Amino acid sequence: MFIYGNIGKNSEGHLTFAGLDTVDLAAEFGTPLYLLDEDLVRERCRIYLRAMREFFGEGSLPLFASKALSFTEIYRIVGSEGIGADVVSPGELYTALRAGFDPSLICFHGNNKTDADIAYAVRSKVGLIVSDCREELEALSAEAVRQGVRQKVLLRLSPGVDAHTHAKITTGLTDSKFGVPIETGAAGELCLYAAGLPGIELIGFHSHIGSQIADVSPFREEAIRLMDFVARMRKEGGPEVSVINFGGGLGVRYLPGDPAVDYRAALRDLAETVMSHGGGQTAKGIRFMVEPGRSIVAEAGMTLYTVGSFREIPGFTPYTSVDGGMADNPRYALYESPYTVYSANRASEACDTLTHLVGRCCESGDIIQKNVRLPRPKRGDTVAVAGTGAYNYSMASNYNRLTRPPVVILTDGRARLAVRGETFEDLVRNDI
Ligand SMILES: Cc1ncc(COP(=O)(O)O)c(C=O)c1O
Repeated sequence: MFIYGNIGKNSEGHLTFAGLDTVDLAAEFGTPLYLLDEDLVRERCRIYLRAMREFFGEGSLPLFASKALSFTEIYRIVGSEGIGADVVSPGELYTALRAGFDPSLICFHGNNKTDADIAYAVRSKVGLIVSDCREELEALSAEAVRQGVRQKVLLRLSPGVDAHTHAKITTGLTDSKFGVPIETGAAGELCLYAAGLPGIELIGFHSHIGSQIADVSPFREEAIRLMDFVARMRKEGGPEVSVINFGGGLGVRYLPGDPAVDYRAALRDLAETVMSHGGGQTAKGIRFMVEPGRSIVAEAGMTLYTVGSFREIPGFTPYTSVDGGMADNPRYALYESPYTVYSANRASEACDTLTHLVGRCCESGDIIQKNVRLPRPKRGDTVAVAGTGAYNYSMASNYNRLTRPPVVILTDGRARLAVRGETFEDLVRNDI
């Protein structure tokens, strides 16, 4: 019945998450409420770290793609597991540094970094900056020279691999705003150009082909194209390559019918492809990285809501409105993302009613999930949406001047507040 092992039901017929009663949590912290199962986050970090070391060698490292979930405590948690972090903005970098994250384990991304972003990242001594265009590489070179340092850089490549995922989260195609395409010859040219710029040291390549990918074959294809590019650049007098970063993208289960991805097996498969390519010669002297986001935190998250109304329209599916919606979870509005929904306070009752779960924003598109089954909803019920740990809190907004919900972390049967819920004062803090 339950999609993940951290979800269950207790003797009171209440849904439990990470061993805690969700109805009690809703009563204590209010709704909407984001919950995060810390033990599962740690378990996933360990799976990735062990698999990277075992299959790619000791110096290899997973980086948590913190766009999936960014607040101070999450950087402390993943940092304490010994993995690195990928940040895509000065705000994410600031938050990571505030958490005490080791800057040498931070990789700074983004397809359009401002001069200020670049200056901040270099000053913060981030381990790697990933860039994919000439203008930015020149700005980075100038800034590094100004600060008197030699900044390590990866060139983001567009390998031309179709990951067969949702169009809005596909990033590895030649026609993309991300990366410099290998196919057109642009990547080779930019690589040789960047290698000659002062202040920067081009030490390798990065690519990220997309997200929510359950099949390893696009990753194999990505690896082959990157390793071919490494071999070609070596022949053409390119820079000494010591780092390859394959990005993130492994999927998670949002619905009971989704495949459960074996992350360790996927990394072993990827490593076998890499290590056997070119008779094993190409991989020599290279440290490998991956950047999982969703697969570290999605299944560790759950959102609780309170039902306000159950609206029946003859001949149509009824609407169940809750006290959150697209402001705390815009993923259905963006991608029609699937989610599994549970009744939290009536988890033992028959799910006899088909309904659309919708939010409270003034938008018809404010839908959390269509066609879910619940015990006939009534005002005051608590509803739980599973799998919301990734790209929910980090994508939340104040649309309609809704306050962002708190984030509560669950571990060892205890709940602790990690992010306070916003107040009306927070909403007007910058208003003049
Ligand atoms: C460069 C980069 N790395 C890693 C990720 C993380 O992807 P995922 O959350 O699917 O693992 C993303 C997601 O957009 C990305 O753009």
